[in-house]
Amino acid sequence: MKQGILSQILDYANRANPYPLYEELRRTPVFHDGEGPYVVSTYHEIHGLLHDPRLSSDTRNRGAAAGDPLAGQEEGEGQLPPSFLKLDPPEHDRLRRMTNRPFGPPHSPRRIDGMREELRSVVKGLIDGLADGRGGSGGGDGIDLVEQFSYPFPVTMICRLLGVPREDEARFHVWADTLAASLDPDPDADAEQREKVTSSARMELGMYLAGLIEERRKNPGDDMLSQLAAGHGQGETMSTMELLSTAALLLIAGHETTVNLITNGMLTLLRHPDVLERLRREPRLAVPLVEELLRYEPPVQLLPQRTPLSDIEVCGVTIPKGAPMWLVLAAGNRDPQRFENPDRFDPDRKDVQHLGLGSGIHSCFGAPLARLEAQLALSELARRLHNPRLLDDPPPYRRNAVLRGPRHLMIACDDVRP
Ligand code: HEM
Repeated sequence: MKQGILSQILDYANRANPYPLYEELRRTPVFHDGEGPYVVSTYHEIHGLLHDPRLSSDTRNRGAAAGDPLAGQEEGEGQLPPSFLKLDPPEHDRLRRMTNRPFGPPHSPRRIDGMREELRSVVKGLIDGLADGRGGSGGGDGIDLVEQFSYPFPVTMICRLLGVPREDEARFHVWADTLAASLDPDPDADAEQREKVTSSARMELGMYLAGLIEERRKNPGDDMLSQLAAGHGQGETMSTMELLSTAALLLIAGHETTVNLITNGMLTLLRHPDVLERLRREPRLAVPLVEELLRYEPPVQLLPQRTPLSDIEVCGVTIPKGAPMWLVLAAGNRDPQRFENPDRFDPDRKDVQHLGLGSGIHSCFGAPLARLEAQLALSELARRLHNPRLLDDPPPYRRNAVLRGPRHLMIACDDVRP
């Protein structure tokens, strides 16, 4: 009966609403159709596996990934050594710990909160810019929220976080766009040409970052790259190659995901106008609302890169050492065994321990920044757009089944408030 369900999940025709497929998948918590990946879709099993040291994130531990339709489609960092996303302890822990020193508590408790005013001012500038095309009675063809807001916002913030000089931000945006587009290949486009463009963007970005690191070693600033380049006590330093793959990881992991969280957020709010109106009156609702969004419409739908280091048994199924696995976070997030009324979007939900940012040792490193960005973006959009409405529902989606989100989100509004 389940034959073909994985290809249905990957089928673009189902991108706008994969949730009925996930419901079907959950009936077999560990699904395997004989040759493809072992697919885990229930909340408690996924949660347990994310904390299980017998699972590796290092794809080099994978046997021949026969039949895994996502093999080779993961985010590419090119010729760089694997980033800590794809490493196991102790290497993972060493690099994550060092990256955290200039990023979060206990060493840098102010880094993200200290970006609040800058975040606000970038959000303000982008929303001011929406006034021209607002559509409706204001004229214009409408606003593409993805192009005009969700897309430029996170990459600007990653630049500020890393310490990319303002005058270089535009170049950085182009590389980030090219790398993001490579995560969402158009099957009709010329694959060879695309690979050329992607690898030259990767190369240029790598060379640019290497130059910036060199410069920051000589003239350190207060930014994250300078502090990472300087290293910290106890002989812990990152090699230049490690630093490069960490910077590329922060860029790639923090870009498309945040774009999709903001866009999925606005789409969900426009489909729930009562909640949108509440957010306009009560901006603090943004905090629980973003958590519920990470449950209800998670930007990372599934993790395709775990591999067991030995045979493991889950729900009576033996998953052999080296077999490819998918952990379908978005299916776990709507598991009725874990959440009451899981298909209802309810920002007042009392217990919302979702899987949207992962869990365990690889849980999202950038979570404090992602949360703050989405909270500020959605509360400001709700406050400033007067009578916003969707022009296209469902919107066109990106092809990517793993990092799922709309390619465009066309909206109209009567006015953009100051
Ligand atoms: C809404 C936005 C975001 C979502 C939904 C998201 C989601 C995730 C998820 C699900 C993981 C777990 C991956 C795994 O277990 O294999 C992860 C890891 C990671 N994320 Fe995020 N992320 C977001 C934003 C960011 C941002 C803004 C940054 C950087 C500033 C970032 C950096 C990372 C890094 C470095 C890891 C790897 C952590 C590790 O392996 O220890 N993410 N993210």
